[in-house]
Amino acid sequence: MSSTRPSAGIEAITVHVPEHYLTLDALAAEHGVDPAKFHSGLGCRSMAVPHPTQDTVTMAVAAVRDLIDRYNVDPEEIGLLICGTETGVDSSKPVSSYVHGLAGLGPQCRTFDIKHACYGATAGLMMACSWAHKGRKAIVVASDVSRYQPGSPGEPTQGAGAVAMLVSDRPQVLRIHDSFEAVHTLSVNDFWRPTYSPTAVVDGRYSVACYLSGLRSSWREMCEMTGRCRDDFAYMLYHLPFPRMSWKAHTAIAEVETGIDLASPSSDLEPEKLVYTQKVEPALWAAQEIGNIYTGSLWLGLAALLEGEPTSSAGKLVSLYSYGSGSCSELITGAIGDDPTAWHGRIGLGAALTTRTQIDHDLYLEFRKMELALKQNGSYARSEIPLEKRLPSHASTLYLGVKDHRRVYRPGADWQPGTDQPRVQIREDEPPEAWCDMWMLGQEPPWKVQ
Ligand code: HMG
Repeated sequence: MSSTRPSAGIEAITVHVPEHYLTLDALAAEHGVDPAKFHSGLGCRSMAVPHPTQDTVTMAVAAVRDLIDRYNVDPEEIGLLICGTETGVDSSKPVSSYVHGLAGLGPQCRTFDIKHACYGATAGLMMACSWAHKGRKAIVVASDVSRYQPGSPGEPTQGAGAVAMLVSDRPQVLRIHDSFEAVHTLSVNDFWRPTYSPTAVVDGRYSVACYLSGLRSSWREMCEMTGRCRDDFAYMLYHLPFPRMSWKAHTAIAEVETGIDLASPSSDLEPEKLVYTQKVEPALWAAQEIGNIYTGSLWLGLAALLEGEPTSSAGKLVSLYSYGSGSCSELITGAIGDDPTAWHGRIGLGAALTTRTQIDHDLYLEFRKMELALKQNGSYARSEIPLEKRLPSHASTLYLGVKDHRRVYRPGADWQPGTDQPRVQIREDEPPEAWCDMWMLGQEPPWKVQ
């Protein structure tokens, strides 16, 4: 399908992954579950666990700062900053405002959050593409911490992380075909988080059915509007609430296109497994180690594909399915850039995963407890966990708690002043390692909010 519109899409992409993780073997042992259920049934190996000094804001800031630094972006050129998130930190002030200040963007910049469960960042990206057609640059950042009740079926699918994307009319990473819209919306209660609850409420199997129903509809729409079918795509990427969901999605599309019922015992699945290995699996490895990062999940898959197969993916056509509970589905197609040097070595995904620290189940629960205490009353939580296990070692921006009803962040070393967010004055007689220690022991913190 030809279009006279100028091209737009992703010029640059980075991923931020929390420093700590819990293996699903440890979770399975704790709950007396066969680990094969998590490994094969859900396709997950470990989950990213944010330190209590990390939240949706700090992860988004880290991803945006990396985007600016690794791709030499001029912060003053960014006229639009959209944050896709469903785990915001305030009912009024958007995450994007914090990110704007802490990442040092210029004042002539529209900022806002978009919330629609896991679909928010995709909505932001499509909006940013329209903006980019006029020759302007935008940043879309997806950042979330996924949380379910301990012991619930959703717990092994948890994750956390952020993906930042520079959107422009120089789409060296992914040129998005945005001249058509294959969207499907249906108001359902498959997954939601009531305002009184820190964790999501899920009708798990129904949510899987809703995801697949949205996929079938938006896939059919895309085919009708573009004349393309799955043979046209070298890679097929999906929102990944858990990696094995992509197999369900893959067979659903195969059924739509071939009319064959693959659930029937007489069906031969081998040909489909081969197609799956080639077109779907290359985008799964990061989600297997990180878990569901909600708004960033689909884009984490793109980052994994680009980093894992930089040369063979170059110039290829991809389909990308975004699903947000509630629900909205969108099927996007696009072309990966021809030159892998545009992104190779700059995404940061593999490097972040190899430097992570494994934690045990007790520390995971302790992190959750401290995170909740800070969320509920802003207090400086006490902890019995030894100091060396509690400190984040390489996070640049830290969330320190709430003081005078204001969230307090210790900006990274590269923070540019110029916003009216609380200024944190650090006492010079305390080394940085002591800040969190004093905070967690409930002592007077070594900073002052001005
Ligand atoms: P569950 O209770 O683990 O389900 O919940 P299950 O008992 O059916 O087991 C899962 C799979 O493991 C099954 O495979 C079992 O056969 C298999 P399947 O039939 O599905 O192919 N299994 C085993 N395999 C190997 N060895 C074993 C073994 N035992 C069982 N020993 C569920 C699964 C996904 C419902 C749960 O994890 C959940 O509630 N997750 C959260 C919701 C979710 O992820 N929904 C997905 C679609 S909605 C969505 O994507 C939106 C979302 O991202 C939020 C947003 O939009 O913001 C979630």
